[in-house]
Amino acid sequence: MNASSQVLRLIGVSLCLCATFFHLRVGAVEFGSDVLPIFSEKCFQCHGPDEKERKGDLRLDTSAGATKDLGGYAAVVPGNPNQSTLIQRIHHSDPDEIMPPPGIRTFLGSAGEKDPQ
Ligand code: HEC
Repeated sequence: MNASSQVLRLIGVSLCLCATFFHLRVGAVEFGSDVLPIFSEKCFQCHGPDEKERKGDLRLDTSAGATKDLGGYAAVVPGNPNQSTLIQRIHHSDPDEIMPPPGIRTFLGSAGEKDPQ
């Protein structure tokens, strides 16, 4: 095998890996079908399309809004739940931090409630 066909092979393999990786990430969670319905029910009241009602300058009804830079962090960091403030806020133990705020909590459990595990 000469050098140039080796290079071609290498390019082929990396393209293949990239495609698989991309597919896995996209396949894991679909913003529109998996995430949006939850936000819609529980979060849009304060983080939805209505500018006047919007709290914390955070909009979760668009993927651009959910991934917006909030000053060095973002509510949703695609593919990286540990970096996603939103995940931390949903699980937060402090009633001042937990989302949605305790007074209006419904299906995600009441404030201070421990995860089943
Ligand atoms: C009753 C209104 C209300 C609802 C419903 C609500 N939030 Fe909030 N949210 C706020 C307010 C007010 C703030 C800004 C104050 C603060 O950071 O606690 C905020 C801030 C946040 C922040 C931090 C934004 C930043 O700039 O750091 C995140 C993330 C968040 N909310 C996620 C959610 C998610 C996810 C839901 C639904 C599960 C939700 N919120 C539902 C009122 C609400």
